[in-house]
Amino acid sequence: MVLSVALLCAPPAFGWGPLGHRVVARLAEAQLTPQARAEVQQLLALRGARHLSDVATWADDLRDTDPVLFARTKRLHFVNFHSRDCLYDPPHDCRDGECAVAAIEKYSAILANRANPPAERAEALAFVVHFVGDIHQPLHADYRHDAGGNDYQVRWRGRGTNLHRIWDSTMLDSTHLSAAQYSRTLLAEGSAIASGGTPAEWAEESCRIDRDDGVYPSSRFIDHAYVERELPIAERRLRQAGARLAELLNRDLGDD
Ligand code: ADE
Ligand code: ZN
Ligand code: ZN
Repeated sequence: MVLSVALLCAPPAFGWGPLGHRVVARLAEAQLTPQARAEVQQLLALRGARHLSDVATWADDLRDTDPVLFARTKRLHFVNFHSRDCLYDPPHDCRDGECAVAAIEKYSAILANRANPPAERAEALAFVVHFVGDIHQPLHADYRHDAGGNDYQVRWRGRGTNLHRIWDSTMLDSTHLSAAQYSRTLLAEGSAIASGGTPAEWAEESCRIDRDDGVYPSSRFIDHAYVERELPIAERRLRQAGARLAELLNRDLGDD
């Protein structure tokens, strides 16, 4: 009873779950240039961390560790499109720069500028690692008015949950892979993925996946067929997020 009340009261989730964020960070770290890797290590050391995956969930952990900073940044974990055309329109979709697209641009610029205090750049690194992951979670850039599926109730293995959680965590966790195993498996997948592009384009891709690729199930029951169809899409998004995060860091931390 206590447990079910706790589950019912769980606040909406704010990103890929820990596994997804750690996988993205590990994929990116494996694709860094030596120069970017060295600077990443210096910045991480300022936060008592060694690997990108060590800081990948920090922006979510703020909910408990620094509620004031969390409140100021919680709208940066997603972008809500206002039209089914999935074309990013900042005045509507990112008012006051409060969305994942603008956040990636902002913190990437802070990270890239070596005139900024190292501690500020190290914090920006942690934000970038997290938000590049989030923006690739299709439901973090949705056009429906249901808080990215947080308000879309579904059933999974006989229990009530919501579609957002299925995508943040449930499908990935159902593999029972660790972040190390998962990232190794995905790195070994030879098939080409589209990388490059801008944060706005990554968000538009996510929105189109929600619209066109069966993310919203035909019934409220999430079954085996759903996972078989959608998990490969989630995994492709992890691979893209990892490659693009590496590209961004290689650019921001490359030669001046
Ligand atoms: N809250 C409102 N929209 C959201 C989204 N797309 N993802 C996560 N939380 C949200
Ligand atoms: Zn998040
Ligand atoms: Zn989420």
